[in-house]
Amino acid sequence: MSDVAFQEDEYHRQLDLALWRRVLRHARPYRRPLLGLSVAALVVATVEVFFPLATGWLIDEAVANGVSGRLYALAGFYFALCLLLSVCIFAFISFAGRVATGVAFDLREQAFTRLQQLSFAYFDVRPVGWLVTRVTADVSKISSLLPWFLLDLVWGGSLILGIAVAMLWINWPLALIVLAIMPPISLISVFFQRRMLGSSRLIRKTNSQMTAAFNEAITGVRTTKTLVREDEALREFQGLSSGMFQHCMRNALQSAAYLPMVMSLGSLGVGLVLWRGGVTLGSAEGSMTLGTLIAFMQFAAFLHMPVEELARRFTDLQSAQAAAERVQSLLDTEPAIADSPAVCARLAAHSADAPRDDVAIDGFSPRIERIAFRDVGFWYKPGEPVLQHFDLEVRMGQTIALVGATGGGKSTIVSLLARFYEPTEGRIEVDGVEYRERALEWWQSNFGIVLQSPVLFSGSVRENIRYGRLDATDEEVEAAARLVNAHGFISELSEGYDFDVGERGNRLSTGQRQLISLARAVIADPQVFILDEATSSVDTETERLIQDGVHRVLEGRLSFVIAHRLSTIRAADLILVIDAGRVVEQGTHAELMARRGRYHALYVGQFTRQREQAWLAGDATPSKAELR
Ligand SMILES: Nc1ncnc2c1ncn2[C@@H]1O[C@H](COP(=O)(O)OP(=O)(O)OP(=O)(O)O)[C@@H](O)[C@H]1O
Ligand SMILES: [Mg+2]
Repeated sequence: MSDVAFQEDEYHRQLDLALWRRVLRHARPYRRPLLGLSVAALVVATVEVFFPLATGWLIDEAVANGVSGRLYALAGFYFALCLLLSVCIFAFISFAGRVATGVAFDLREQAFTRLQQLSFAYFDVRPVGWLVTRVTADVSKISSLLPWFLLDLVWGGSLILGIAVAMLWINWPLALIVLAIMPPISLISVFFQRRMLGSSRLIRKTNSQMTAAFNEAITGVRTTKTLVREDEALREFQGLSSGMFQHCMRNALQSAAYLPMVMSLGSLGVGLVLWRGGVTLGSAEGSMTLGTLIAFMQFAAFLHMPVEELARRFTDLQSAQAAAERVQSLLDTEPAIADSPAVCARLAAHSADAPRDDVAIDGFSPRIERIAFRDVGFWYKPGEPVLQHFDLEVRMGQTIALVGATGGGKSTIVSLLARFYEPTEGRIEVDGVEYRERALEWWQSNFGIVLQSPVLFSGSVRENIRYGRLDATDEEVEAAARLVNAHGFISELSEGYDFDVGERGNRLSTGQRQLISLARAVIADPQVFILDEATSSVDTETERLIQDGVHRVLEGRLSFVIAHRLSTIRAADLILVIDAGRVVEQGTHAELMARRGRYHALYVGQFTRQREQAWLAGDATPSKAELR
């Protein structure tokens, strides 16, 4: 439920004009449709002012002269107004649609691009659900608000003005009486709209909490049942549900009170006109004809509509402000890890060159020979160092194993290496060059990474493997799968390589997902390989397959292997035992075993456990050679 807490931002009462000015910039490419929309809105308002007038003229003509040529002309004029109105309404709806769709498209694309650029640290503190809402709901909200707000501003503003002028022209004392009703209607509208905004926010918030609760209840149903927590879960849900009931009731009451109030005030205006106008009409001294009286009454009855509409739009603007802030702040966030200006300049200088095998995009050598960590320190949160004074120097072709207690910093070391994070102290060098002086894109394209819980994307097995190198042929995909021992199980799937792996690969087992992500990493032919716990949580047979595949993959590359099962890394060129962010022991398997220190203790402990398990399972006793 922490996601939900993160989602609901503060409710801002004041309109933040500077923010809206920045948001408006996204509408700049759509100046033409916006202009068309404003013109259409202006014409609609003008036509709407003429309708009551035309009605009045028609009535007066009919009363005075019966059916006449002028009456037909007026009827024709009325019909022409109707036609013009339909055309303009069509025009503004299509213009508004164009702007809304265009702005939404641009914003989504920009947000998506930004999300791809942002560093891991950004995602550490922001739940996925929150981010998804930014690029979907918030973006639609803003993009549809912009054109409709402008439309109502032009339409409502000119309609109010037009009606006021027309009424003053017909009979100014009566007009002043009707216009005096406008301020209270505006005030009531603003007051109630704000209240309703508040209660509908609460409804939305409770609703998302309930969605989360349903979600947790469904996904965690086994845990709930095994821990016998059904009653507690139900009580929590009932609390949310009764909160929802109250917020909904309040919202319903507010709208129930608002509408009659505005309507009564509007009717009061009409009543006053009828009374005063009727008196003038009756007294026969009159400046007013029956037609003008009816036109006037229509104006009075109509006037509250644009006022209400404008109040509603301003409330919409206020309610969308939080969304606008979130989207804008996402777009404004600069990725913490990016190429420095010097690197960008070098990239630009080499961008026109034809691609060459012996020069990387940043002008340096494309081969990696040596990588060195020099006195590297790192923290995720200031004051809580995860890595301190870490030194390491490795050469191409070596296999480096990282072992040690959980939380020691092994994954952090490889994340720093892949520049998902950057050292907060010290430097990492590639052939003597600090890696921040190399192009980020070049650096990361050299890595093949397989994580403990590999993420596949929905799509076929083939597409997932090809994700590693988009121009790979079907034969290359299959060759990669064969190399990592994945071909066997893939051919047994119902549609083979075309098998749909489902969302995040959930139609496959963890081991199968690891094999596919191994193939995906291999197909790109990276220089550096990172395997973070790639062989945990799979059965022995799959583990053997993976190890065999991994073994073939590692040849000729620089690789970093993090493994909890120490039997898997005996052949490594260098084993580092990491504890609390420091290297406590290092050497080959034989050296470390001979030292009889930390590694020896870990290894013997694990080996004994394995033997016990094997014995319990009735397997043959493992060979003594493994103990050496
Ligand atoms: N994204 C993060 N934000 C904040 N702290 C983190 C983050 N990732 C890891 N840590 C912390 O950094 C420390 C080292 O974590 P790391 O994942 O590198 O350990 P590890 O050796 O890989 O552990 P394991 O063997 O369990 O995978 C831990 O204390 C962990 O809580
Ligand atoms: Mg780890």
